[in-house]
Amino acid sequence: MSEREGAAESAHAVIGAGRVAVVTGAASGIGCALAEAFVAVGSAVVLADLDGREAEAVAERLRLNGAAALAVTVDVSDPASVERLAKVTLDRFGRVDVLCNNAGVSTFNLIQDQTLDDWRWVFNVNMWGVVHGLASFLPILRGQSTPSHIVNTASMGGLMSGVPFIGPYAASKTAVVSISETLRQECAAYGLPIGVSVLCPSATDTRVMESERGRPVALGAECRTDDAEAMRLAIKSMFTGPDGSTPAHVAMRTLKAILAGEFWIIPNSGERPIVEARFTEALASFPQ
Ligand SMILES: NC(=O)c1ccc[n+]([C@@H]2O[C@H](COP(=O)([O-])OP(=O)(O)OC[C@H]3O[C@@H](n4cnc5c(N)ncnc54)[C@H](O)[C@@H]3O)[C@@H](O)[C@H]2O)c1
Repeated sequence: MSEREGAAESAHAVIGAGRVAVVTGAASGIGCALAEAFVAVGSAVVLADLDGREAEAVAERLRLNGAAALAVTVDVSDPASVERLAKVTLDRFGRVDVLCNNAGVSTFNLIQDQTLDDWRWVFNVNMWGVVHGLASFLPILRGQSTPSHIVNTASMGGLMSGVPFIGPYAASKTAVVSISETLRQECAAYGLPIGVSVLCPSATDTRVMESERGRPVALGAECRTDDAEAMRLAIKSMFTGPDGSTPAHVAMRTLKAILAGEFWIIPNSGERPIVEARFTEALASFPQ
């Protein structure tokens, strides 16, 4: 039995045959791998992405392998678009068992060179995208009497917090960690059968380093300094090199966490010393 089949065998009711997973940012990278992992254990999947054509190409490939897969063109920064996603999902599948608020983007510049529109775009997608997902889907999950699960994709950047050249990204991902922690506490306090996880990947071989492909024209083009572009290329080569993780690994780790009801999903160990140093410094600053 494969690792994936083993995970399915012990399945918590939220994934498997007859269950429905909604994944934003599913046309590429981690979202695409999540969609593949959900259908591999028998769930139906809704692939939501700004790039509707690529989402449809992935969905078509999954359908050819016998999966129930629906592609929906969605801009997570637009609450009406996410509300439509929820409606289309219910119209087609009648329920939602797992929501992965996964779509995300980044700019690359020192804070002094990030424009207000850079900040707006990154927060509109990374933070407001998660908030819109919760606003549209929490009422559905609460209305179902069955267990469900929400996975918000943050980043190791949200735990390291201070990350040169990706200030808006790190700040938005820190917000996603915080939103997830609050949601987890509130669901527990009110006895809601809604599990919550926050996914904090690092260095995964995806197209996140080419995020600008989905930037709205109205927010202008990104204008990186030479230093920032050099850093972007250096990070990109790290993601695709031997130290980089694969989207499939991140997705597998995520499904296991859903099954186990784990809050923190940290697929890679590399940045542990940085996170430790951050919290050690903060703890040492408490008055004796
Ligand atoms: N790749 C990494 O190393 C890494 C590390 C930490 C966190 N993450 C996070 O993982 C998530 C997935 O990113 P990825 O690495 O797979 O990158 P990716 O660029 O391969 O995939 C992101 C997807 O999000 C979609 N998207 C962008 N803006 C959108 C919008 N407004 N509405 C709907 N969809 C939109 C894109 O079209 C794309 O298909 C992101 O939240 C990212 O921040 C990635």
